[in-house]
Amino acid sequence: MCGIVGYIGKNKAVPVLINGLLSLEYRGYDSAGIAVLNNNKGNNNTYEEIEVIKDKGRVKNIQNSKKLINVEDSNIGIAHTRWATHGKPSKENAHPHLDNSKKIAVVHNGIIENYSEIRNFLYQNGYELYSETDTEVIPNLIHYYYNKNKDVLKAVSLALKKLKGSYAIEVISPIFNDEIIVAKKESPLVIGVGKNEKYIASDIPAILKYTKDFYFMDDNEIAVIKEDTIRFYDDDLKEKNKELKNIGWDAEASEKNGYEDYMLKEIYEQPKAIFETIGTTLNGRKIDLPLEEIDFGKINKIYIVACGTAMHAGMVAKYSIEKYCKISTEVDMASEFRYRNPIIDENTLCIFISQSGETADTIAALKLAKEKHSKTLSIVNVVGSTISRISDFVLYTHAGPEVAVASTKAYTCQLTLLNIAALYIAEKIAKNEKDLKEIEKVKEEIKLLPNKVKETLNTNQMIKKLAQKFYNSKDIFYIGRNIDYGACLEASLKLKEISYIHSEGYAAGELKHGPIALIEKGVPVIGIITEESLALKTISNIQEVITRGADVVIVTNKKIEDKNYMEVIKIPECISYLSPILSIIPMQLLAYYIAKNKELDVDKPRNLAKSVTVE
Ligand code: F6R
Repeated sequence: MCGIVGYIGKNKAVPVLINGLLSLEYRGYDSAGIAVLNNNKGNNNTYEEIEVIKDKGRVKNIQNSKKLINVEDSNIGIAHTRWATHGKPSKENAHPHLDNSKKIAVVHNGIIENYSEIRNFLYQNGYELYSETDTEVIPNLIHYYYNKNKDVLKAVSLALKKLKGSYAIEVISPIFNDEIIVAKKESPLVIGVGKNEKYIASDIPAILKYTKDFYFMDDNEIAVIKEDTIRFYDDDLKEKNKELKNIGWDAEASEKNGYEDYMLKEIYEQPKAIFETIGTTLNGRKIDLPLEEIDFGKINKIYIVACGTAMHAGMVAKYSIEKYCKISTEVDMASEFRYRNPIIDENTLCIFISQSGETADTIAALKLAKEKHSKTLSIVNVVGSTISRISDFVLYTHAGPEVAVASTKAYTCQLTLLNIAALYIAEKIAKNEKDLKEIEKVKEEIKLLPNKVKETLNTNQMIKKLAQKFYNSKDIFYIGRNIDYGACLEASLKLKEISYIHSEGYAAGELKHGPIALIEKGVPVIGIITEESLALKTISNIQEVITRGADVVIVTNKKIEDKNYMEVIKIPECISYLSPILSIIPMQLLAYYIAKNKELDVDKPRNLAKSVTVE
């Protein structure tokens, strides 16, 4: 994964680099480093040397380094925060990496799959390599080609042609005058434009406080960035034009604004985020989606493909799509879908859900669906991200920047938008008045969601107390049926990823086929019950775990008779297809407070990164 930042301009580079890295730490925090060109310009008005400051561990180690004083006046630099793939977290493996002549510095996000082959090639040509990383081959390869033709841009392009795998790279060198060269393939990279200054980052929030104007790099593009100009090239160095895009996000949205953690802030932002998502798509009684070109009458199958939380949104939405559109809908993990030769064609609609729009598996699955000529629609949060650009159609959730690794507001916005999209499709193919009437009813219910989510957040105090009881547990189970089962999967993922407690989301009726063996005295089991027709059945399953000693908590909007439950968490009434948008709120809070009780870093859980740009 990793995060990269860069700055060139009239101001000091180091504060931009450090701030950018701090905001990108969610992408990895095994080691960090910066490289700047120092300001002692030589006779040819070029910089003379590269200063590198890097260390194992978090960005704060760099931020607190005394060596920063030596480079504080520099106004060109690149920086990196690492999520280790090749080589353990260590100072030697930290980026930036230099070539043997120490004249070329590179930071890299991605994986160079053929790095051993290139290492051998470099050894044969007299180069030494000092780290275990795949990245160190890049500056040396650039140096190798530079020695041959003395043209840096050409050298970068020739080096990139040798690489197999994924990369977003930044290159600085005193050899070339006042510029940063960047390139990308299958790893994200954006360039922010200010007045006589340019910013580079793996994602928008890292540099959002400096600019709202961005270029989104495409695969196989190279850019030469100077203080006042940017030139874009394809991989054969043919110059090309690119459109500058203005991002509507405001900078405050990516700050903590008084909250202790981003995750808590983002949980509390849900009423607004859902409101914004509805506001851009549902006007009065009309659903406005840019999908006119799809002939939904011809669609006979829907696939929803995504990873993690985004996939859970798909699992929940499947029920409403099948109910309202009456089109058979399958949900698949992108990492499985991409390798299983799915049976899809031009009559299949493939929906890809992604907060970041940069998840490697989802991108690969999307490319496969396109190869097979199915219609591709993406539900994405980050404007201009790869998935949004390569799918045939895109719908944006308006969650704003999501910084905490654990996804919360993006998920509830995905669910909201998926339900709106389901109604849009249903309306296009509705066969009778009765269906249309039902659709109108659901639209009205959707508009009530922001207030209901706000009301659900009032469960906060009760959840805090519950977290104190549960935070020492070894296992926690979530059970539910049908649409509540999808909610259980997401509740369980939230808990395990930030609290490191083993947890399972299980279909309530399936528990007795194995996992019930794990239930003993004091094991917390949380039952989610919002699906009216199945409430009694789930209650029976809950009685089975109470009999075996479980401590049961119920999350419900139904009237439920107390049958020895430890707690009943009431959420607002709502039609069952929308209720997972509410039932997940107390579960997000529970995961959050359990992790806080364990004094864990909720925003940056171990081993995880926000945007998974490797396979
Ligand atoms: C969990 C979480 C991940 C992501 C998954 C997909 O809280 O955030 O499971 O949902 O990595 O990421 P996106 O949505 O960016 O494709």
